[in-house]
Parts: sequence; C-alpha cells; structure tokens
Amino acid sequence: MAWKTSSLMQMCRFLLLVILFLPHEITSSVLTVNGKTEDYTLDTELGLEEPLKCAVRNHTREEELLWYRGEERVDLKSGNKINSSSVCVSSISENDDGITFTCKLQRNQSVSISVVLNVTFSPLLSGNDLQTAAEDSDVKLVCNVKSNPQAQMMWYKDGSILNLEKNHHQIQQTSEYFQLSITKVKKSDNGTYSCIANTFMETKTKDFHLIVKDKAMTIPIEPIIAACVVIFMTLCFGLIARRKRLMKLCIKNKDPQSGTAL
Ligand SMILES: *[C@@H]1O[C@H](CO)[C@@H](O)[C@H](O)[C@H]1NC(C)=O
Ligand SMILES: *[C@@H]1O[C@H](CO)[C@@H](O)[C@H](O)[C@H]1NC(C)=O
Ligand SMILES: *[C@@H]1O[C@H](CO)[C@@H](O)[C@H](O)[C@H]1NC(C)=O
Ligand SMILES: *[C@@H]1O[C@H](CO)[C@@H](O)[C@H](O)[C@H]1NC(C)=O
Ligand SMILES: *[C@@H]1O[C@H](CO)[C@@H](O)[C@H](O)[C@H]1NC(C)=O
Repeated sequence: MAWKTSSLMQMCRFLLLVILFLPHEITSSVLTVNGKTEDYTLDTELGLEEPLKCAVRNHTREEELLWYRGEERVDLKSGNKINSSSVCVSSISENDDGITFTCKLQRNQSVSISVVLNVTFSPLLSGNDLQTAAEDSDVKLVCNVKSNPQAQMMWYKDGSILNLEKNHHQIQQTSEYFQLSITKVKKSDNGTYSCIANTFMETKTKDFHLIVKDKAMTIPIEPIIAACVVIFMTLCFGLIARRKRLMKLCIKNKDPQSGTAL
C-alpha cells in the first residue's frame, strides 16, 4: 500500500510541475521592437526611412515571428523570421500616418508588440476650384484637407476674412474636409474664396472661384431652342410659300417672254 501512495504522490508532483512549468515556459517569451518592450508611437517625417527590428527575449526555443502592416501580413524572407525579424518602412508618405506595425509570436499570436507611425506633414489642400452657380441656387465649396497635426481652418473672401451671415453661410469641418455652404447665392457672393490651413509649421491656401450668374441668363435652354425652331420653321414655310408664288410668276411670265424672243 505504502509504495502505491508514494508513487501516486510522485505522479501528482510531476503533474504539478508540468502544469506550473508549461505555461510559464510558453508565456516567458517577450517581444521587443527597436529595444522597446511596450507598444509605442514613432514620430517621423515625410521621405524618411524607419527600420523596425522585432526580437524575442527570454525564449527557450526557436520562435517564429510575424509582422503585420495594419491588418495585412507582411511577407518575410525565410532568413528574417526566427528569433528576430526586421522590416523597413521606406520613403515615409502621408499615407503611412496612423498605420500600425505589429510583431507577433507565430506560436501564440496574443504575444505581440505594436508601433504606430505618427507622420508629421504640412497641410495638403484640394478641391474643385471653379464653380458657376445661378443666383438663388445653393452652393458648396469643399476644401479637402490632409494634415498632421490637424490644421486650424479659415475661409477668406476676396482677401479678407469671410463674414458669416446667419441662414446664408454654413461651415462644416471634419478631419478630412472644410466645407462652406451658401444657401440662395446672391450676386454679392460672387468672388474668390480662400481656404486657409494653419499649423505651427506652415500656412497653406487654396483659392475657390465662385461665379454667380444672373437668374435670367440661366433660364432653361429648352424653351429657347423650341422658340428658335418655331421661328425657323415659320421662316422656312414662309420662304417656300413665297418661292411657289415666285415660281408661279415665272411660269406666268414665261410664255409672253418666249413669245417675244421668237
Ligand atoms: C498566449 O500568451 C498569452 C499572453 O502571454 C497567455 O496569456 C496565453 O495563455 C498564451 N496562450 C497559449 C495558448 O499559450
Ligand atoms: C527576461 O530575462 C531577464 C534576464 O535575462 C529578466 O531580468 C527579465 O525579468 C525576464 N523577463 C521576463 C518577462 O521574464
Ligand atoms: C533562436 O533561439 C533559440 C533559443 O535561444 C536558439 O536555440 C536558436 O538557435 C535560435 N535560432 C536562431 C536561428 O537564431
Ligand atoms: C505626432 O507628432 C506631432 C508633432 O511632433 C505631435 O504634435 C502629436 O502630438 C503627435 N501625435 C501623436 C498621436 O503622438
Ligand atoms: C466674380 O468672381 C470671379 C472670381 O473671383 C471674378 O473673376 C469675377 O470678376 C467676378 N465677377 C463680378 C461681376 O464681380
């Protein structure tokens, strides 16, 4: 009986050791990126190159690593996967701003470390810079903005700050655009509107030309065409009728004329 109990106890001790050791061994691997052990934000600028080196620490065996750009897996060369792995973000662009690069342990993907790129760049403005509107119609001037850090935005008209009139002008701003809506445009709204973006680095301007046309001038063109057609047809019929009369005249005159020639 005694040997049975002791062997049972040994079994238990072994199992306990296994239970204590296994998860410990698995979770002891730690990842670092460029020597950092925690997620971080990497401040960078346009055109630069950012090498990111992920390495595994406190591991007891070979560890395969994975890299993700956002949600997308990065294709790694075979020699660039085990125990450490490097990726290089080259010629940083505006599109890399806010992108997360994540290094994961292939064996247990909840062991991971991330780097978020913070790409600073001066404001980029774009939009439809020439608009023609009829008096009393509604107009939207949309100034698309890309900037990091976010720019302070303003509208100017013909060189001075735009005076916002209630129920006439309306401004809407998101992280992507800065919009001026004008309801029932007046002749006095005609002019050049400037979208101005201001960051501590730089000020950028984009001009939007708004041409307000007379309502009378923009009357639908179809009635004019119809009227022209009617006039044209009338003239045609008139001419044809006259020609017939002329021809009759000719025919009438023909006989006496030919008579005189003979
Ligand atoms: C994966 O790693 C996490 C965090 O270290 C740990 O909590 C989890 O138990 C591990 N999962 C497996 C299946 O090893
Ligand atoms: C990793 O190993 C180092 C020493 O090699 C130790 O100081 C550190 O606490 C270990 N980290 C973890 C998470 O086990
Ligand atoms: C990875 O690390 C393990 C454990 O330290 C080691 O045995 C193995 O040789 C390493 N492999 C490579 C390719 O560095
Ligand atoms: C990104 O960098 C800019 C300029 O260095 C800084 O003002 C801003 O706070 C940073 N943003 C984040 C999310 O770290
Ligand atoms: C209307 O605005 C445009 C664009 O700024 C300008 O070229 C044009 O001279 C203006 N027309 C009138 C009648 O003010």
